[in-house]
Amino acid sequence: MSMADSSLPAFWAVIPAAGVGSRMRADRPKQYLPIAGKTLLEHTFDCFLGHPRLLGLVVSLSNDDAYWPALLCAADNRIIRADGGAERATSVLNALMVLSEQGAAESDWVLVHDAARPNLHRVDLDRLLRASANDIVGGILAAPARDTLKRIGADGRIHATVDRSVIWQAFTPQMFRLGELQNCLADALAAGVAVTDEASAMEWAGYAPLLIEGRADNLKVTRPDDLEWLQRHWQNDRS
Ligand code: CTP
Ligand code: MG
Repeated sequence: MSMADSSLPAFWAVIPAAGVGSRMRADRPKQYLPIAGKTLLEHTFDCFLGHPRLLGLVVSLSNDDAYWPALLCAADNRIIRADGGAERATSVLNALMVLSEQGAAESDWVLVHDAARPNLHRVDLDRLLRASANDIVGGILAAPARDTLKRIGADGRIHATVDRSVIWQAFTPQMFRLGELQNCLADALAAGVAVTDEASAMEWAGYAPLLIEGRADNLKVTRPDDLEWLQRHWQNDRS
């Protein structure tokens, strides 16, 4: 471990991977699609499993997942399984529960990262760890909106141009303390709030997480053209 690494906090990783990938319209959940020699999910793990400050990784998997056992990493003893839930937030909450049961402390840092975001770079991960480590709440990777933004009316026409300078796109990882995140997620779900990411549960509870600017190419593979884009992007990067 280098000096730079030892100044970073130790952390757990939680990877929700229990989605079906309906918008991808593939023959299997998108996290198991092959790209550059392995599955998307394995690429997503790489950035975490190669990190010297990782305490362990919890992956939430669907009960009828037939693809997981075939992966080499299924035998990696740093990886713990949790049950997926009906919503991404329940998959995350199940993973946090497993972490608590395994003896993780309430004050431990947890980084939640989408299984479908395989292009996380180490510089971004370290930037998030460094920036959030001394923060009272925690933070998320994000990027300022790039395009001019329009508000649309019911008639399908532009009603206004939105001030772009105050709009950021939320990415993952999202880094919070285990106990606080668990409480906020559980409470927000119980209250029927739409929880699309961890920060939204924290915000609902009154916290104001940090935004840490990350690379714009930390994309979530959602539709078929995202995978094609990533394939080309990696080919260019590695040639
Ligand atoms: N996820 C999960 N449990 C769910 C739903 C989603 O663990 N019940 C995970 C997905 O596997 C993915 C991440 O949350 O890694 C982000 O969700 P999304 O991109 O929406 O993936 P899917 O829900 O699989 O895709 P879609 O919405 O197109 O069906
Ligand atoms: Mg989804």
